[in-house]
Amino acid sequence: LSINRFADRLGRLGGESAFEMLSKAKALEAQGKSIIHFEIGEPDFNTPRNVIEAGRKALDNGFTHYAAAQGYLPLREAIADYAKKYKNVSTSADEVVVVPGGKPVMYYTFMALVSAGDEVIYPDPGFPIYKNLIGFLEAVPVPIGIREENGFRLDVKELKSKITSKTKLIILNSPANPTGGVLTPGDIDDIAEAVKDKGIYVLSDEIYERIVYDGTVKSIASIPYMKDWTIILDGFSKAYAMTGWRLGYGIMNKELAAKMTDLMINSNSCVATFTQIAGIEALSGPQDAVCEMVSQFRKRREVIVNGLDSIKGISCMKTDGAFYAFPNITGTGMNSKELADYLLNTAGVAVLSGSSFGSFGEGYLRLSYANSIENIEAALERIEKAVRQIL
Ligand SMILES: Cc1ncc(COP(=O)(O)O)c(C=O)c1O
Repeated sequence: LSINRFADRLGRLGGESAFEMLSKAKALEAQGKSIIHFEIGEPDFNTPRNVIEAGRKALDNGFTHYAAAQGYLPLREAIADYAKKYKNVSTSADEVVVVPGGKPVMYYTFMALVSAGDEVIYPDPGFPIYKNLIGFLEAVPVPIGIREENGFRLDVKELKSKITSKTKLIILNSPANPTGGVLTPGDIDDIAEAVKDKGIYVLSDEIYERIVYDGTVKSIASIPYMKDWTIILDGFSKAYAMTGWRLGYGIMNKELAAKMTDLMINSNSCVATFTQIAGIEALSGPQDAVCEMVSQFRKRREVIVNGLDSIKGISCMKTDGAFYAFPNITGTGMNSKELADYLLNTAGVAVLSGSSFGSFGEGYLRLSYANSIENIEAALERIEKAVRQIL
């Protein structure tokens, strides 16, 4: 008798290549190999000191009990203030749901809105979880190609052509993983115009909103008629280097917020209370650490993009946000997966294959430059040497 009597839905659930590559790279490191890491998408900076202190103090002050399932009210209020300041979105605490990380906003949005057979438009290449959830819930995947020739921004004309009466949800992610592409305010206006009055929700993944080098980021929820149709996904992982704290939030209309709270009650109960208090300090306290981190990323972006671009067989566009380089590697003669495996095994450089973010990612690699300039330079040398050997 097989012990693998799993539910069918598990057969439809994919993984996340970054975590898979990390474990492969760690296994090589355990054998004594030197590996330079560009696979995992988390800032290499520490959580700002004032935020850590706020969390520690909260523990000392007895914030060790359950919080409200929707989120600790003072944090939800701080999030509403923050949304006004940074996103130009007028909202209130009853439209905010605090969840353990940005990812659960995706999961809960899908659980609350998407039924089998609904069409979901999502970016390709894009964060793998979008597509995984579509498959998990037997919805219909409608990828929209994110192309280099369009500056790694989605093409609104193409988006319009993919909208049907069955479209339930459109996922936007700007600044984007894995390309770093940023939608312009004009793109956002055009997208809003395209979905207006069609009963389509937009999941706006704004987790990299604070990590922008050039250009302006606009939240689609700042357009008044889009506000109630948008679910903003944001959190503390990237902007405040708090990946391990597991703290994120969704902003959505009140009715949907109540449904998402029901999903929280049925799964997590609440986010750790002291973590939420640290979150208040992150949003309301000094923002110097965010600025300092972004200025470091900006320097690294120069080094990694220019370095990759100068390697024969590789070209690399400079994009405006997040901390990912997404070089075109078609000139190497290898496909994305072959090259990623080759670089790991022969050069000791862990990168992700662009194709693990969708078929439009074929011909590219993703390198997270959450690593020191010294390591970036060493890795560029290793990559150059390895690629020279196959040309
Ligand atoms: C586009 C995108 N959205 C959401 C997340 C999830 O962030 P969190 O770690 O807060 O769940 C990530 C993390 O890599 C991401 O790249």
